[in-house]
Amino acid sequence: MQLSDFDIDLFLRDYWQKKPLLIRNPWAKWRNVLEPDELAGLACEEGIESRLIVQSGETWVLEHGPFAEDRFSQLDGAPWTLLVQAVDHYAPDVAALLDPFRFIPNWRIDDVMVSYATDGGGVGPHFDQYDVFLIQGLGKRRWRVGDQCDRTTPLRPHDDLRLLTDFEATGEWVLEPGDILYVPPGVAHDGVAVGDDCMTYSIGFRAPSRPDMLMEWAEHLVDGMADDDLYVDPDLKAAGNPGEIAPSAIDRLHAMAVEKLLDRDAFARWFGQHSSTPKYADADWRPDEPITIEELQALARDGATLARNPASRFAFLRQNDGVLLLFADGSAFPCSGASAALAEQLCAQDHILLDPSLSGAMEMLAALVNQGSLAPADDGDEDGD
Ligand code: SIN
Ligand code: CO
Repeated sequence: MQLSDFDIDLFLRDYWQKKPLLIRNPWAKWRNVLEPDELAGLACEEGIESRLIVQSGETWVLEHGPFAEDRFSQLDGAPWTLLVQAVDHYAPDVAALLDPFRFIPNWRIDDVMVSYATDGGGVGPHFDQYDVFLIQGLGKRRWRVGDQCDRTTPLRPHDDLRLLTDFEATGEWVLEPGDILYVPPGVAHDGVAVGDDCMTYSIGFRAPSRPDMLMEWAEHLVDGMADDDLYVDPDLKAAGNPGEIAPSAIDRLHAMAVEKLLDRDAFARWFGQHSSTPKYADADWRPDEPITIEELQALARDGATLARNPASRFAFLRQNDGVLLLFADGSAFPCSGASAALAEQLCAQDHILLDPSLSGAMEMLAALVNQGSLAPADDGDEDGD
């Protein structure tokens, strides 16, 4: 799926992480891909993150799912919104909405959140930390965007929705089915349903925060260190003043602290594995019985297809030694030659055709099937059940 009249380079140069952009229906033929009832059904399921926000006057009340099946029929006339996270993991048609945005690398993509609102419903004026493309799926929504915010921007007190105290719109548009609004991180926005049956698909991105990343990278390094890796000073000189921490001691201590942190290759390997670890332990595609290489080879002779679990995260990096490292759901697979070409294919497509020429990659493919990242497409597993 491609967006027509959408200039990717121009978008990246002038809008990405810079300013909002309204893209009027760029689809060849827009079709809403999920029914409101299907969304409500997902919100009733254990293990799927969902929220219901009911508005009464100027207050918004938040409830967390899973919800009882009759919850939505109990809501009286007050405007409400239902939001369900990572719907792309369960609905292949929703996952396909990510395709036109694949010019942004996999590791920056988070998931597709889907919302449903009744007339006047919305989540209130707020800002998000991450970039988002808001695709209007069904019905209409009035979006207003405002100023750039940060952690000093005043929020309403005692509010778990992190709503803005003051919101002044600098731009306003009514989005119709197929229209897309891009909102960069930190830009205030407020979307209110115009009429019932308003569905919005949020293509959400992610970016590591420096403190989280440092903490997790350091934690990983510490895991690989020995308890007896201590400071040593066989060259110690008599201290003039016993209170002084000598510059030479600081040099050695500082080197101990940063040496491992500076290993770029080790960082790259860790980051690939870390960033490909799934956020939710859902959509488990692991087979009941592990697949064997012989079984995969038989499937290859039949020309079967392997589908990628839509909840799986795939990425690769090229090492200086020419080896390509494929990452899938937190595992790393070193690849060269035909396996490397296959790994690149796996990162760019949601399925691959198995053929006997892939014999050198069968071990890796079997491991990917057995960890639930791939599954033979014709046994029904591609629906995630
Ligand atoms: C929505 O879909 O109602 C909210 C999306 C957002 O503002 O981030
Ligand atoms: Co938002």
